[in-house]
Amino acid sequence: MKFFVDTADIEAIAELNETGMVDGVTTNPSLILKSGRDILEVTKEICALVKGPVSAEVVATEAEEMIKEGRKLAEIAENIAVKVPLTWAGLKTCKTLTDEGTMVNVTLCFSANQALLAAKAGATFISPFVGRMDDINLDGMELISDIRTIYDNYAFETEILVASVRSVNHVTESALIGADICTAPPKVLKKLADHPLTDKGLAAFLADWAKTGQQIL
Ligand code: G3P
Repeated sequence: MKFFVDTADIEAIAELNETGMVDGVTTNPSLILKSGRDILEVTKEICALVKGPVSAEVVATEAEEMIKEGRKLAEIAENIAVKVPLTWAGLKTCKTLTDEGTMVNVTLCFSANQALLAAKAGATFISPFVGRMDDINLDGMELISDIRTIYDNYAFETEILVASVRSVNHVTESALIGADICTAPPKVLKKLADHPLTDKGLAAFLADWAKTGQQIL
């Protein structure tokens, strides 16, 4: 399973990128606001830092304008994936940009039928928001499982990009279901390495090592 980082914070991306775990980046208008940066500038910097797909979201709501915004975002770098909302205008934009050879990430997906439409429009990625579903007592992971089944039934190549990931359990469950990608905030990705028995075991090894009086270097 691939890991994308869900942030426009360039320092956080750079830090995680050094671990070799970053397969791509996702941003959205809220994350651009949080970064305090200009969308075109920060997106260009992210694209230079990370080899994989970098999602940048359009903000127009009508297809004609959305397509123009998508084309402008796609000019930033070869690894841009234009992010469009799951509306009819977004689906039309998806079809147009995909036909032009641009990667498209269809976002704000909350149902299996929406995911089916995105795949039929040729989306490179579908982004179901699991955390926001859990927030209103719907089962986000059940949706991921349903989309996996539907895409496999028809051999759709659209990749399932699990978004709105809030916990390490979302990551584990996504991997078990066979989702293609998880995009998560840096703090969730960092937590994946944590285990109290690792900390305890390391402390014991270091205490015993100190007693040997030896040094490796
Ligand atoms: O990629 C979409 C994601 O940023 C949404 O996450 O936590 O705002 O629901 P959240």
